[in-house]
Amino acid sequence: MYTLSNNIKIPKIGFGTWQIPPGEIAYKSVLDAIKVGYKHIDTAYAYENEQSVGKAIKDSGVNRDELFITSKLPSHIKDYEGTVKHFNLTMENLGLEYLDLYLIHAPWPWDEIGKDCSQGNVLAWKAMIEFFKAGKIRAIGVSNFNKEEIENIVKHTNFVPHVNQIQFHIGHTQNETVSYCNKHNIFIEAYSPLGTGRVLKNETVIEMAKKYNVTPAQLSIRYCLEKNTAPLPKTTSKDRMIENINVDFKINVEDIKILDEL
Ligand code: A2P
Repeated sequence: MYTLSNNIKIPKIGFGTWQIPPGEIAYKSVLDAIKVGYKHIDTAYAYENEQSVGKAIKDSGVNRDELFITSKLPSHIKDYEGTVKHFNLTMENLGLEYLDLYLIHAPWPWDEIGKDCSQGNVLAWKAMIEFFKAGKIRAIGVSNFNKEEIENIVKHTNFVPHVNQIQFHIGHTQNETVSYCNKHNIFIEAYSPLGTGRVLKNETVIEMAKKYNVTPAQLSIRYCLEKNTAPLPKTTSKDRMIENINVDFKINVEDIKILDEL
């Protein structure tokens, strides 16, 4: 477990569900993931699989308080009322009483990347702070935000996000955002820790994995842990789910430096 700035514990590795199709596939994947030991599940309204994820959580038989469940506000919702509405829709979809973590999915709509939504982000953030204070969410945060975008919401609310979930993997470590977040005690979650599969084809990664007697995926996930981030690998294969949490080894300092350079 890692500990967030508000003392909430978060399991070190989460099961990512982006691009896992709703229905039987998402249901079975999440059920398998929980069965093999994942306690942390990451979904989003935009993934359209919240209902399947919620059903799998219920059917898993694992106590709610042993699980850490994250969802996200769609990236185009940039007002207070829309945030309230979508949070309620997410809770209905998941069939849960509370969420462990709720994130603003992105600082701008995915089809208008880079658009200035600073005012809208503040409005959404204010609604999320209210849910947090009401005990409906145990921690709140952002995703895909850079330093300026975080500073904007903090300046207008005086409330620092607990988490920033960003794309983070070997070869893409977003050093500026990470060091800003580390300095302000904003925990980094690493989505696409395998670079959506691309990192696994890198020769240096393949060779180094052999040296540690692990797979390239295990080396990539371990790298995220060595950087004190929470990786969210995703797969629909049960064997790979097991492989991806079986990462109890250390990467030595020299090898970390080599991976940092990729
Ligand atoms: P699949 O679902 O067929 O297993 P990321 O988590 O970085 O987004 O990467 C996800 C991609 O990596 C998916 O295409 C997934 O495919 C693949 N993947 C996940 N775990 C492994 C693994 N242990 N070995 C090889 N490929 C993997």
